[in-house]
Amino acid sequence: MRRVVLAGRGELAEWRDAARAFAVAGILPEEIEWREKRAEPGFAFQHDAMPPPSAAACKPMTVPPAFIELAETVLCHSDPARFSLLYRLLWRLQLDRQLLEVASDEDVARARLMAKNVRRDAHKMTAFVRFKEVGAVSAGRRKFLAWFEPDHHIVRRTAPFFQRRFTDMDWLIATPRGSAAWDGERLTMSDAPCEKPNLTDAADELWRTYYASIFNPARLKLKAMQAEMPKKYWKNLPEADLIPGLIASAESKVRAMAAREATQSLPFHDRLQEAARGIPAEPEAPAGTLEALRAEAAGCTRCPLHAKATQTVFGEGPLDAEVMLVGEQPGDQEDIAGRPFVGPAGRLLDQVITEAGIDRSMLYVTNAVKHFKYEPRGKRRIHQKPNMGEVKHCRWWLNLEMALIKPKLVVAMGATALAALTDTKQRLQDVRGKAIAIDERRTLFVTVHPSYLLRIPDERLKADELARFREDMLTIQRLMLAAA
Ligand code: URA
Repeated sequence: MRRVVLAGRGELAEWRDAARAFAVAGILPEEIEWREKRAEPGFAFQHDAMPPPSAAACKPMTVPPAFIELAETVLCHSDPARFSLLYRLLWRLQLDRQLLEVASDEDVARARLMAKNVRRDAHKMTAFVRFKEVGAVSAGRRKFLAWFEPDHHIVRRTAPFFQRRFTDMDWLIATPRGSAAWDGERLTMSDAPCEKPNLTDAADELWRTYYASIFNPARLKLKAMQAEMPKKYWKNLPEADLIPGLIASAESKVRAMAAREATQSLPFHDRLQEAARGIPAEPEAPAGTLEALRAEAAGCTRCPLHAKATQTVFGEGPLDAEVMLVGEQPGDQEDIAGRPFVGPAGRLLDQVITEAGIDRSMLYVTNAVKHFKYEPRGKRRIHQKPNMGEVKHCRWWLNLEMALIKPKLVVAMGATALAALTDTKQRLQDVRGKAIAIDERRTLFVTVHPSYLLRIPDERLKADELARFREDMLTIQRLMLAAA
């Protein structure tokens, strides 16, 4: 049995030289005992165990490039068994060149796992090193020191990342497994273990305050957080002792945020309402007119939707319109403008009705629900479909609009409008494209909502559906002519 002691600081050359000498001499894996210097304080790096090259030596072994890559990473692992594992793989690769692709092979699996642990440790180092400014600025360069406790010999392989990232400052990363330093010109490595320096300073408090303020309880994913930030790294992170408290209070904070959301309007909404309050009151419109109805609806609080919406979006069009178009509810842009169908769905509607020869100014355009229902998400307001209760509350206004306008043809665009106009649960596809007599004076025509067309991801289906919508608008145009 031969015994070889290596420094084992993660350098390929050291192991490769030894392995090459043994391999050339034909020494089998089971004939070598690989040791690490750290565990053998009495031993220096031993070359004497190496056989001298002899004339009877075997021919040099060759390996695929993937093995070199794997060995470079595995050698950074702290397990002393890595040397013998790699030497065994080296021998086995001479018989089977594809061996490294056999994931179920015990040696291969073990080597792959070691490589994975090393990569993970290196990644954690890039994430959790915290530099502290130390010493005076010299030659215009600031100096920083960091402490990190890696599991494996990763300082050498990770240092170039910090060199690229923090090139304009001088830094030293100290670890129990050696150190790396950068002075703007040279990256210096040392294998000498470092003592942990005292790095707490006044900036810690600032950092902790910042960390606590950016911690978003609504985004907390405990499992992902624990996987990304394992507890063993916490002791060197100034913010770490805040984390348990932040996690513990996350749930109640989310509940409080949700409660606030339900009652607190967005700032621009407040500003618009404020501005509207400043506008001098219009002279009161005569009762029973469209203007009077609109003014009354502006103060509607029949359902909770008014609380978050900017304003009531009432219908618009001539009092003697023969056709009334009914949509679902105002969208984001309609809520701000205070007019129906002026956003993306409105633009599509305008385009299609114009192509069909219909003049929008002849139509009365309104919605089943008069307030924008949405869910705030960041700076965006995400449309939410009104529920049947909200539709029923708002039918009050729709019925009054119908009673005033007395349209001959009412067009329901989408399922919500259909439900509001018929009070039955019919499927839109069962009645789409048909003219249905509501009573002896009025006809209902059902089509899809233009927003539906805008949301179709498949281009072909979208084109087909758009063509059908155009057909529907042509039918409406013919019905208008017939009713005139
Ligand atoms: N969608 C609707 O249903 N109505 C609008 O006014 C805008 C978009």
